[in-house]
Amino acid sequence: MAVSNSNKLSKPTIVIIFGGSGDLNQRKLTPALYNLFLDNFMPSKFAIIGLGRTEYSDKKYRDHLLTGINEFSRRKDESGNWDKFSPYITYLTLDAGKDEDFKKIDDKVDALQKEWNEKANVLFYLSVAPQLVPEIAANLSKLKLSQDRSSVRIVVEKPFGHDLKSAVELNHQLNALFDEDQIYRIDHYLGKETVQNILALRFANSLFEPIWNRNYIDHVQITAAETVGVEDRGGYYEQSGALRDMVQNHILQILCMVAMEAPVSFEANEIRNKKADVVNAIRAIKKEEVSQYAVRGQYSSGWMKGKQVNAYRQEKNVNPNSKVETFAAVKLFVDNWRWQDVPFYVRTGKYLHEKTTLITIQFKKAPSFAFPPEAAETWRSNRLTISIQPEMDIRIRFQAKKPGQSMALNNVDMTFSYNEAYNTPQPEAYETLLLDAMNGNATQFMRADQVEGAWRVVMPILESWEAKNADFPNYAPDSWGPEDAESLIARDGRNWITLPLKKKD
Ligand code: BG6
Repeated sequence: MAVSNSNKLSKPTIVIIFGGSGDLNQRKLTPALYNLFLDNFMPSKFAIIGLGRTEYSDKKYRDHLLTGINEFSRRKDESGNWDKFSPYITYLTLDAGKDEDFKKIDDKVDALQKEWNEKANVLFYLSVAPQLVPEIAANLSKLKLSQDRSSVRIVVEKPFGHDLKSAVELNHQLNALFDEDQIYRIDHYLGKETVQNILALRFANSLFEPIWNRNYIDHVQITAAETVGVEDRGGYYEQSGALRDMVQNHILQILCMVAMEAPVSFEANEIRNKKADVVNAIRAIKKEEVSQYAVRGQYSSGWMKGKQVNAYRQEKNVNPNSKVETFAAVKLFVDNWRWQDVPFYVRTGKYLHEKTTLITIQFKKAPSFAFPPEAAETWRSNRLTISIQPEMDIRIRFQAKKPGQSMALNNVDMTFSYNEAYNTPQPEAYETLLLDAMNGNATQFMRADQVEGAWRVVMPILESWEAKNADFPNYAPDSWGPEDAESLIARDGRNWITLPLKKKD
């Protein structure tokens, strides 16, 4: 869970990063470890070892990472902080395809443990192409240091599988090599403060729980909209698409937190059981009915915030006839006692009008018969919105009497804003998750069954889309996606909700 100094690591810790010379490490992992160090969470004995095929001296490697700190970290290199931190980082050239190279890891860990005169916890972070994961994991399991299962953990980045079949296979492979509680399948959305706060909001308050069900809630929306295109990730995205990239993981994880039953503790498996119950209760969409429940889109060329941009099909490493979707909207149902018949509308896309991740809980209308006609005209139902990013706030909308001699109504918001309430910097998702993984806390990581459950939800949609032609491109940059996405929700007499942008000072 969110960091507090009681989470400070005490045991010597070695973090070993596969893909050490890659993008994710430079942008996210090293900045996260650097900030954890500055916040005094790292133990007195620790080491970070980057692994990769590129040749680097330690000095060159550290310089490469420093560029990332100054560009991407929430704290830059100030007051000689990097000089204090960087000596903990070293680099080893390693070709994941060469079994013999793996011995270098045992040697290095041995040397460190000798120097410290203490045994260390070892965290392997696999920030590599998904096809390399089984082979690396197999080689890691053979290392001498892996024989002690209590001190070794392995973090696996997304995408976790390409479909249900490959995810099941990967789980089998990993589970044959490591115990489930050694495997940390990461979904960085779960490390976001505002996502973690969903559980606090729901379960640390008595206000919401009694009305958090089908008796009071009309529907739920989850939007994860981005203003960027696929940028230079065309090669990856061609194998993925919006449904795999965002819905199968991030959005379904958020949905599970919104819909789950109250946990009896924050123990990892308790929370994960409750989330798995939700994903397993999501109604399977019949392949032949997919068009009633799911809409896909792909952006055309056009203008994005005053800049001319390419169509998806013109992006680098993208097939000019690509059928890959850059937008997806889906209507889901959770078939259980709490949620029966309450639609969950979710949508995500690239090059959309606004960058926003927003959860909306739309309540049912209050009876209006007692009010005069002028009040009924503006009658609205209550709404709770949870802005995950970039705004970080929670708003409750309710009706209030407009001052004056008549009973006219207005909609007003009560807002809790993180930035106004807490004048402290928020840890980045990767800080929280890396600290949890180093501490052996798997609560915010995905268990095998959760990942498979999420694949099960999206498979009929993926299969139906793959089998049919797509009329692409079908939405312009800077829009809210294809028109069909509007119809998907309008058919039910509802509309997608966006919040007015905050005025910049
Ligand atoms: C990643 C996806 O998992 O999440 C990206 O692969 C997406 O395509 C990103 O842009 C969004 O993350 P965030 O934290 O910026 O919302």
